[in-house]
Amino acid sequence: MKFIVYYFSGTGNTKWACETLARELVNRGHEAEIYPISAGSTLPSPEGYEGVLVGYPVHAFNAPVPVLKFLKTLPVLQKRLPVWLVRTSGEPLKLNEASGVTPKRILKKKGYDVRGELHYVMPYNIIFRHPEGMAVRMKRDAERVIPQDAALIAEGGGTLYKNGPFRRMVAFTLRIEHPAMPVIGRRFKATKSCIGCGKCEKVCPLGNITMVEGKPKFGKNCAACMGCAFSCPKDAVKISLLNGWRVNGAYSFEGDPALDSDVIRYCRKSYLRYFHNLEER
Ligand SMILES: Cc1cc2nc3c(=O)[nH]c(=O)nc-3n(C[C@H](O)[C@H](O)[C@H](O)COP(=O)(O)O)c2cc1C
Repeated sequence: MKFIVYYFSGTGNTKWACETLARELVNRGHEAEIYPISAGSTLPSPEGYEGVLVGYPVHAFNAPVPVLKFLKTLPVLQKRLPVWLVRTSGEPLKLNEASGVTPKRILKKKGYDVRGELHYVMPYNIIFRHPEGMAVRMKRDAERVIPQDAALIAEGGGTLYKNGPFRRMVAFTLRIEHPAMPVIGRRFKATKSCIGCGKCEKVCPLGNITMVEGKPKFGKNCAACMGCAFSCPKDAVKISLLNGWRVNGAYSFEGDPALDSDVIRYCRKSYLRYFHNLEER
């Protein structure tokens, strides 16, 4: 089968998950082309492909704006193409499943056949920094199940999640993030530690940062992906109202995975359930 994979990723987790899935599909004898959703890039139409994967990080229990905008640009095709949503999130809460509601609605309206939702918990890029052992365990467990997920996709299978009124209401309320971020994002600032390296400008998938006299200037298209604050080598990007939640610096994904006894206290039961469920698969 010939797959096309589109993904949006601020700090690399979703990119990694989509690339790993694509590689597994190729290892199984399929073709998989992969494209980032970013500003200014014209993405190929899914016409002529036999399956579509759409990857995104969960943002406030929703899919990020650039992903929804992209889905709305997809053409209505004669053939009902199967689609899989691939998401990553920092916590294993069931509420994150609500982030599939709007993408599924858009896709169904356009005649696409949404077959499955894949979800990998990966380290947080906002709110707090996961200990390295947690990051290692998340990635290791995802790596273990991605080949099974690729096999399921290749067979045309998958799981779709139902979201009741409570989850829908919470996700709907938090969609306030969508109009709020362009406003908050304009107030992002570089501190005196900024060395003018331009890394933030390079990583911003929306082209929302321009270097002016050696300092980043933040535009009005921020989607809160956190690429700028996360990747700054000097931790110099202040993220306005959200600054207390800033997470800086890539995870090394090296070392020993967290043992059950090391699993963080926050959402502890949910993380353990998630890890054990994956380990049993
Ligand atoms: C603005 C924002 C909101 C987020 N909201 C959630 C959330 O509701 N639930 C969750 O589990 N993780 C949330 N996260 C964490 C990310 O989903 C997670 O770290 C993801 O793997 C990042 O993927 P990326 O590296 O591809 O951008 C949020 C991250 C950001 C930046």
